[in-house]
Amino acid sequence: MKGIILAGGKGTRLYPMTISVSKQLLPIYDKPMIYYPLSVLMLSDIREILIISTPKDLPLYQELLGDGHKLGLNISYKEQPNPQGIAQAFDLGKDFIGNDNVCLILGDNFFYGHGFSDFLQKGKNLKDGALVFAYQVKNPSSFGVVEFDENRRVISIEEKPAKPKSNYAIPGIYFFDNSVIEKTKNVSMSNRGEYEITSVLNLYVDEKKLRCERLGRGLAWLDTGEPSGLNDACNFVRTIQESQSFYIACLEEIAYNRNFISYEQMIDLGKAYKSEYGKYILSIKKEEN
Ligand code: DAU
Repeated sequence: MKGIILAGGKGTRLYPMTISVSKQLLPIYDKPMIYYPLSVLMLSDIREILIISTPKDLPLYQELLGDGHKLGLNISYKEQPNPQGIAQAFDLGKDFIGNDNVCLILGDNFFYGHGFSDFLQKGKNLKDGALVFAYQVKNPSSFGVVEFDENRRVISIEEKPAKPKSNYAIPGIYFFDNSVIEKTKNVSMSNRGEYEITSVLNLYVDEKKLRCERLGRGLAWLDTGEPSGLNDACNFVRTIQESQSFYIACLEEIAYNRNFISYEQMIDLGKAYKSEYGKYILSIKKEEN
C-alpha cells in the first residue's frame, strides 16, 4: 500500500494566515500540520509516501521532510500546478502508485483516539474496492456526506449538499484498490470546477464496492481548514500532551515503535532539537523485548 498526502490548495478559508504560508505548514500547537496526516500513514505501516503540493510550496515540504530516510520512510514529491480537486491526486500520482493500492489523506485532517490504529489496519489490509469512514457532525453541509440504507450499506455520497441526507461526514482519509487510477479518468469536473473525491467514491458505490465504517465517539476528527477547527486542534493537542505526557504525532517515536528506525537513531534525531519536542524524544525509554 502506498500513501499520498495532499498538501496543496490555496487555503483561502484561512486568509490572511495562508497568503504567503502553505496551510499544511501552519502549526497545530507544536508541530507543522503535515506531521499529523504523516503520522497517520506511518501508523498504517505505510512507508512509501508521495506529498503533493503547489510548485511554490513543494520545496518547503522537501526542506522539512527530505527523502524521509531519517524516519525509515521513502518520501517523494509531486507538483499540482492548479488546484483542480482532490481526485487529481490519482492522476498526478499514477506513476508513484504503480500497481499498488493507495491511501489518500488530506493534509488538513486531524485524527486522534483509542482504536484508530485498528481502523487503519483494516484499510491497510484492503484487497478489493474502497474503504472510507463516517463521522457524525453537526454541520454535514461542509463535507462529503454519506447516506446509508437500513442495513448500513452506502446508498450515495454527496459533496457539500444543501440538504444533507444524514449527519455522517466522510473524513479525509480514503483507502482504494488500484482501479482508482482508471476510475478517476471517468470523473468529470463538478460545477465548482473541481475533480471531486466524492465522484470517485460514487463510482465504487455503483459497483457496490465501497465499504464505510462509522467512527465512534471515542475518536476525534477535526478538519483544520478553518480558523475555529485549527484552534480546536491546537488546544486538543496541548491538552492531551500536557495531561497524559504522551505526544501526538511525534514522528520519531512512531518510526521507532514501528521498527522503521532503531532506538539509537531516534535518540540522535532528538538531540538535533533544543525544544520540548526534542526533550520528549530523549525521554522515550527503550522497549525491552
Ligand atoms: O475534510 C474532509 C472533507 O475534505 C471531505 O468530507 C470532503 O468530501 C472533501 O471534498 C474535502 O472537503 P474540503 O472542502 O475540506 O476540501 P478542501 O478544498 O479544503 O481541500 C482539502 C485538502 O486538500 C486541503 O489540505 C487542501 C488540499 N487540496 C485541495 C484541493 C481541492 C489540494 O492539495 N489540492 C486541491 O486541488
